Amino acid sequence: MVTTPPPAITALGLRKSYGDKIVLNGIDLDVPSGRIWSLLGPNGAGKTTMVQILSTLIRPDAGTVHVAGHDLAKDPDAVRRSIGVTGQFAAVDEMLTGEENLLLMGDLHHLDRRASRRRANELLKQFDLEDAGKKVASTYSGGMRRKLDLAMTLVGNPRIIFLDEPTTGLDPRSRHTMWEIIRGLVANEGITIFLTTQYLEEADELADRIAVLDHGKLVAQGTPDELKSLVPGSHILLTFGDITELDAAVRVLGESARDDQALTLRVPSNGDLGEMRSLLDRLDAASVVAKNLSIHTPDLDDVFLTLTGRPAAENEAENAEKETV
Ligand SMILES: Nc1ncnc2c1ncn2[C@@H]1O[C@H](COP(=O)(O)OP(=O)(O)OP(=O)(O)O)[C@@H](O)[C@H]1O
Ligand SMILES: [Mg+2]
Repeated sequence: MVTTPPPAITALGLRKSYGDKIVLNGIDLDVPSGRIWSLLGPNGAGKTTMVQILSTLIRPDAGTVHVAGHDLAKDPDAVRRSIGVTGQFAAVDEMLTGEENLLLMGDLHHLDRRASRRRANELLKQFDLEDAGKKVASTYSGGMRRKLDLAMTLVGNPRIIFLDEPTTGLDPRSRHTMWEIIRGLVANEGITIFLTTQYLEEADELADRIAVLDHGKLVAQGTPDELKSLVPGSHILLTFGDITELDAAVRVLGESARDDQALTLRVPSNGDLGEMRSLLDRLDAASVVAKNLSIHTPDLDDVFLTLTGRPAAENEAENAEKETV
């Protein structure tokens, strides 16, 4: 018999307002253990607010929450013992070395000196910060600081980690390093990751499940593929060598969407291999040769546009406007 582990986090009817600004307007969550669960939303959507509530830093106005099986309202200390938080309120002390920062976390977790030192060394090694560990954090690059921040979170061996925009502001290489580390924590240590991001690509890359937060509500939830399937518009893009070839292809496949400048023809498709093969066979039978074939599956940007009627970036602009008034 297959037993499913209890969920890492559940929430029912979660609400939070600041003055008359409703930030979370009745959120239900079900975050399974040992997975990466991503909360996706633009600037000001309420991601940090959600992390702060789930990690006991602020209280919700309404709703019940369980984290690692503990009732957040009744036993916040037990919740705190099970979790780690890194992100926008980074804990790194700039004046201390990486190692000293880790040892300080060891003290906070009441590890004895030897255990604390052992854990610090382990983590410096795991995060490829052994040399950096002797230097003060103020000399660190953004990527190194993020890694140290995450390492500090791991000192207490939390089972659930909240990562609030872990790669915002990092260059592509540091971002990929961070992704590898995050994947490793789940695969090797079975840690549950609650990840917030405003990068659609990041959620797509890492998450098993994604929830999209917009105007205080979760407007969609599912696997990256499920979210993408909500959006119409998968197609095959065929490119031809010249206009004669394109004309010939149109005679076989229909006018659907041709672009005479780019010499392309867009054919709606579900990305199914059999369908693609039959399309190529039909071209072949008519002796039409395509130069190039690419498959476009909608990305999460398309999803956001479909779900909210706006691109994620526009939402951001709207929030920025609010902040300046
Ligand atoms: N302490 C506070 N007092 C008043 N308003 C707040 C407070 N904290 C957050 N807000 C407001 O709540 C909304 C959500 O903020 P939050 O920081 O949770 O968004 P976010 O999704 O984390 O955004 P970002 O991507 O920029 O980090 C914003 O409109 C913000 O201005
Ligand atoms: Mg935030």
